[in-house]
Amino acid sequence: MSLSYSPSYAQATCLVIFTYNELEPKFHVQNNELTTEIQDIINKLGLIGNKGECNYFYNKNQQLIILVGLGHSLKLDTYRLRVGIKKAIQQAQALNQKEVELILEDELINRFDIESVNRLVAETYHISHYQFNNYKSGSETKEPIKTLVSISDNYKNHEAFYEGQVLGDALKVSCDLINIPANDLYPETLAEKAQILGNEYGFETTIFNENQCAEMGMEALLAVGRASNNQPRFIVMKYYGKPESDKVIGVAGKGVTYDTGGLSLKPTDFMEHMKSDMGGSAFTIGAICALAKMKAKVNVIGVVAACENNVSANAYKPGDIIGSMSGKTIEVLNTDAEGRLTLADAVHYLVDTEKVDTVVNIATLTGAVRIALGDHRGGFITNQDELAPLVYSAASKTDEYMWQLPIDDVYRTHVDSEIADVKNTGIGRLSGTIAAACFVERFVQEKPWIHFDVSGVAFTKSGHEYYPKGATGRSMRTLYHLLKLLA
Ligand code: BES
Ligand code: MN
Ligand code: ZN
Repeated sequence: MSLSYSPSYAQATCLVIFTYNELEPKFHVQNNELTTEIQDIINKLGLIGNKGECNYFYNKNQQLIILVGLGHSLKLDTYRLRVGIKKAIQQAQALNQKEVELILEDELINRFDIESVNRLVAETYHISHYQFNNYKSGSETKEPIKTLVSISDNYKNHEAFYEGQVLGDALKVSCDLINIPANDLYPETLAEKAQILGNEYGFETTIFNENQCAEMGMEALLAVGRASNNQPRFIVMKYYGKPESDKVIGVAGKGVTYDTGGLSLKPTDFMEHMKSDMGGSAFTIGAICALAKMKAKVNVIGVVAACENNVSANAYKPGDIIGSMSGKTIEVLNTDAEGRLTLADAVHYLVDTEKVDTVVNIATLTGAVRIALGDHRGGFITNQDELAPLVYSAASKTDEYMWQLPIDDVYRTHVDSEIADVKNTGIGRLSGTIAAACFVERFVQEKPWIHFDVSGVAFTKSGHEYYPKGATGRSMRTLYHLLKLLA
């Protein structure tokens, strides 16, 4: 990767100038000659700086000048800047440029929090270059374009610029894990990858196999996983960046490496992308990699109850009553509501064995959250409303969008079972995301708890203006910042 602050101003062979749609001026450049040249082109082509506008020309010095519109300056926000930067980098690449200099004038970026600007440029550089072509014969990985960021010294923030690069790299970790198909990524290989990443980034990993899971009493995890030839693994990752503190945050990421639905089998169309059902674990692993690399001052234990939800004569069945590590019995009414079963054992382990102070869990848990919030926002639920501002604050640093959904004692009754301690479905299709959260909450023993349901945002079949197609990586950075805030 090749990204740095530019050592000079407007000297590269390809320059990117951001324009906006307002009265005069529509852009800012320090160099008078360049200003005149750009103004001439803008007048000639009638450019207005609209969002999505992208034009280019060669100036007298034979530099390629790319003009990227950001829309009306009053509506300018960091997300638009991200999209504009991505567009610029991809345009320069499409024109076979060897280098590109992004000109970020004070007048443009002084509207934002400067730490965010520095971080987002670096993140966007990585997001723009993400490729997943491990499986396509003859495909070559395209070289990233050398990217220089022109920003005045007052607006540089080296720490945030570096953090953006670390997060960009961690995004690749998460996205690759999600994009690898389930025939290659199953509990055992997911665990191996976590272990390799632990060695590389500096966190400790422990892997429990199915027999060890049985010894610990993880009956819910084992019930979900038992129909598959790929047996479950329980992955524990520890990063202690704040040894002077006793406080430990526990994170459980859903790691269903493939979700067929089990005997409550999914229709074909719904199954197609279920390799992404370990997205929560990919975000947990990615966030811990980034925390470790940044030497962040927080103590985190991440766990993944990894398994494959498959069908066989040995499969668990709708109507079964299964046990769990907590000792609570669970009436299984739908084998496709498997994620919450695996999380039950994962969060119980965090609270009971590791004695964490706060529990976070993140999962592609319900189709219902996509119905409620679409593919734009992830949903979250907490048992302590004071924690909600921390989630919004973390999300706003990333331009990932989240929305709090409610939980209360009436919803909590929706997972009461007549014949067991709890059941794994709510009331039909009503408030399905909340029902799933209520189920998991039964296993957190009243610890402060934040539950993320990211089914809508973790993966995109159709593509997105900012995120890569397939795995988007969305939610990993929010989790990273949230863990720092919870420390
Ligand atoms: N993995 C799915 C949720 C999902 C749906 C993720 C779409 C990504 C895209 C989850 O295990 C599931 O199947 N949930 C069921 C629960 C229901 C049976 C109570 C659902 O949402 O339909
Ligand atoms: Mn399912
Ligand atoms: Zn699932």
